[in-house]
Amino acid sequence: MPFRPVYSLLLKPPLRSLSPSVSFYRMASSQAAARFGLKDSSLIKTQGLIDGKWLDAKDGSTILVTNPATNEELGTIPEMGLAETKEAIDAAAKAFPSWSKTTAKARHDILMKFYALMNEHHEDLSRIITLENGKTLAEGKGENTYSASFMEWFAEEALRTYGEQIPSPLPGVRNVVIKQPVGVVAILTPWNFPSAMITRKLGAALAAGCTTVIKPPPETPFSALALAELARRAGVPDGVINMVTTEKNVRDVGKEMCESKIVKKVSFTGSTPVAKLLAGMAATTLKKVSFEAGGNAPFIVFDDADLDEAIAGAVICKFRSSGQTCVCANRIYVHSGIYAEFASRLAEKVASFKVGNGLEESTTHGPLIHGRAVEKVSRHIDDAVSKGAQILVGGKAVPNSNFFNPTILSDVPADALLNQEETFGPLAALVKFETEDEVIKLANATDVGLAGYFFSRDVGRAWRVAEKLEVGMVGINTGLLSQSVIPFGGIKESGLGREGGHGIAEYMNEKLMVFGGI
Ligand code: SIN
Repeated sequence: MPFRPVYSLLLKPPLRSLSPSVSFYRMASSQAAARFGLKDSSLIKTQGLIDGKWLDAKDGSTILVTNPATNEELGTIPEMGLAETKEAIDAAAKAFPSWSKTTAKARHDILMKFYALMNEHHEDLSRIITLENGKTLAEGKGENTYSASFMEWFAEEALRTYGEQIPSPLPGVRNVVIKQPVGVVAILTPWNFPSAMITRKLGAALAAGCTTVIKPPPETPFSALALAELARRAGVPDGVINMVTTEKNVRDVGKEMCESKIVKKVSFTGSTPVAKLLAGMAATTLKKVSFEAGGNAPFIVFDDADLDEAIAGAVICKFRSSGQTCVCANRIYVHSGIYAEFASRLAEKVASFKVGNGLEESTTHGPLIHGRAVEKVSRHIDDAVSKGAQILVGGKAVPNSNFFNPTILSDVPADALLNQEETFGPLAALVKFETEDEVIKLANATDVGLAGYFFSRDVGRAWRVAEKLEVGMVGINTGLLSQSVIPFGGIKESGLGREGGHGIAEYMNEKLMVFGGI
């Protein structure tokens, strides 16, 4: 993990008049903007947002944000805490009555404007993603397109929040169900999709008529802050989106978001242990929750698969964002009849990857987010190798950096750590299997169940295996599931609720009205 000094003594509290600290803030902000090299440098915000005001932390402390490809400073953001979180929640509560009363058409129009602005600033937003997350610029562009698509989708979903009329068995009675926004929503997002994990939640919340307090990740806050700026330009009123940036105070901030009686829903994407922690806190007020937690995706190649498609699928599924997505393949099961060919062709492909700075055109794969991520991949490789696995390609980190050479391990034994824990890095672990029943048992032998994939041309097997895999999402002859229109989410310990698709329902309450005496 890169060293993160806290510049608490340098930046001062919020500023009301021109003072040395105003000019210091402006300098810090313009230096950060210059480091990103954007066409519109005003997209770089280095303060949190509460009730329409860009603010520093009350005690002036800050968090250093670095580029994982170079470890160079990108800028600083405020280290906010409990007091700022309470203010943000109050601001969201104050904005709720008017925002929730806007028409669905008005919210649709604002979200479509937001969508248009995300497209207009495509180059800049993609560059911010690449600089703070490390993924390649092509992936950054892909993420911005994906991220914007949630705004478009939920703009349209706002118009489809229909209620229903239910015929009553009682004479003179009419049953009607309407849908209403839940209220203030707390949103906590991860660094692996700095933009798309915000819009997948925020789009649904805004479309439903909810107001929000967002805690973006400290590693990648600038995409989130740029989105907040675009939301303002699109016409989202003050207080509807509030952003509290924090790192050290995350426990206090998260606790308040989950336990506040004002907050009516918590939406989180991140690890299963943190989801469990938040679930416990949110239970104190029995608020609604959506959790998109960890995965450990099986990727199965049967002997009747189209091998070209299966290899292409494995490459995208395993190595997208250098293996740092919750839906990346974690365990690759290959039938013994095609194992040798699959392994050598995949190894050839992976050996041709070029790891490097995501801004360079020739780079195919960027760095991991920080040193801890690099250590985890090394630990999984060392463990598997000590139990008999062999390294076909890669196997090592690039010294003194966050880069890890894309790796393929073959003959990974069942008791290897990586079969139990998500690696979240560029490590493809190949396991040989013999029968359909055996591989389904192996695939399901985990506490989590987010995504699973398999390749087979047999239609009967396709139905059987898809039905038996214990996951929320199955890719059949594809390694890529993600789209804004699908119900994204898991079962078992991978989470609760669905995002995208009809996920707006997670931000609305159904209210029954029973009319009598008719
Ligand atoms: C995630 O990694 O949590 C999300 C991946 C995606 O939306 O494709």
